[in-house]
Amino acid sequence: MLNFLEKHLNENIILEAVFKGDNLPEYTVEKNFYITEFLNNKKAVIYLGEKDKFKKESLNSLIDVLISLSRTYELNLSSFLVNDITATFFVNKLVEKYEFKNAKLYNVKTDKKEEENNLFVVYNNLKELDSEIKKVKVLADAVNFARNLQVTPPNVCNSEWLAEEVKKEVGKDSNLKVNVLTKKEIEKLNMGLLLSVNKGSMYEPRLVSIEYIGNPNSKEKTVFVGKGITFDSGGYNIKTGRYMVGMKFDMSGAAIVASALKAISQLNPKANVGAVLAITDNRVNGDANLPDAVWKSMNGKTVEINNTDAEGRLVLADGMTYAIRNLNATRVITVATLTGAILVALGQTYTGAFSTSDNLWKEIEVAAKETDELVWRLPLHDDFAKFIKKSVVADLKNTDFTGNGGSISAAMFLKEFAENAEFAHLDIAGTAEISDKPMGVMVKTLVQLALNKK
Ligand code: BES
Ligand code: MG
Ligand code: ZN
Repeated sequence: MLNFLEKHLNENIILEAVFKGDNLPEYTVEKNFYITEFLNNKKAVIYLGEKDKFKKESLNSLIDVLISLSRTYELNLSSFLVNDITATFFVNKLVEKYEFKNAKLYNVKTDKKEEENNLFVVYNNLKELDSEIKKVKVLADAVNFARNLQVTPPNVCNSEWLAEEVKKEVGKDSNLKVNVLTKKEIEKLNMGLLLSVNKGSMYEPRLVSIEYIGNPNSKEKTVFVGKGITFDSGGYNIKTGRYMVGMKFDMSGAAIVASALKAISQLNPKANVGAVLAITDNRVNGDANLPDAVWKSMNGKTVEINNTDAEGRLVLADGMTYAIRNLNATRVITVATLTGAILVALGQTYTGAFSTSDNLWKEIEVAAKETDELVWRLPLHDDFAKFIKKSVVADLKNTDFTGNGGSISAAMFLKEFAENAEFAHLDIAGTAEISDKPMGVMVKTLVQLALNKK
């Protein structure tokens, strides 16, 4: 547990920051982040090097140390507040990282160790930190809600289950309107692209919409559209062994946009925000989607399938049309583990961003900076849509075969469905999961984007 106190309990060892040149107790080890304990007087010091150089940027590594301590300390917070480091900034980072590390996520290991270390934070003016702690906890809970869904295996997390879990969680919130569409309703809406991906499945597709109306007088509404492929086998263009593992994470976009709405409704910004989750798996059976098949999207455009593994853009396209036509979105932001190519370009470090609007991109960039998430903008250009517009029988093909800029041609495909809405797209294929661990990436940025709307 992370505990906050106004005064030391004096039951545990008190931990203080010390810097180079301080009047250090004898035997202090002068190595960065090294803790020296003086058990006689129940004190310990953590050495942080030169004071002038210890700034906001240095905090991440310090906090990684603090949340991994095996002993219970009483942290003297004031001793860490040097240069630009404020109490609220420190506490924000500490709570965020602590909650991320200690999240209880899906895990059926039979020898599970429940170890969580205790840490006491002592600061004489806890009132000052109150609202920051509340906010960061709301965000951490939302991030962990997404992470738990992400990591749940696909034999549990199928399309019907995922929609139900999201409804159970966000449906509790009276500030949110949640609607789950069944296959029948999806058919009535003519979502031919989502249905085409679902053909190979033994589960029904789902379209979940979530709405938060924080500014009823405004016509502006931002809708996040999340890719919810609960497992991506590739379909008839089947993935080979090592490329298929990990494809349970292909629903990350859907989990992330739902979680963002969960946090937004608790933080109450004066903005209108929605989420659309387009959910199915991408599998094979005797009737599954075929290369060469042609389908009509909800907005009327026809699409020739030339690769069943480019399924994300198909389900997102119908999700976007639903956001625009049925939820009256004026801005659409897609969030998807869309292309392997984004890993080639940006690795697991940056989320790739695309936007038809410099303004919207600026807002995303600012929100991401504020929440310490890395996004990098890539271009949209008609050159990257040439190939997909060359179908002999339909308006679009779903895959560019040139081998160039695969993430961009995917984004250009989505742009075809943006109609008059401002459009941005976040490709999280590199950042959604790292070493099999779910990251809940971009939840904070999307929430901050809404909070920044006045
Ligand atoms: N879900 C994958 C993208 C992906 C790849 C996510 C690696 C995470 C890690 C997506 O549906 C896909 O299969 N994309 C294809 C597109 C291609 C057929 C144009 C890809 O990236 O190979
Ligand atoms: Mg695929
Ligand atoms: Zn996919």
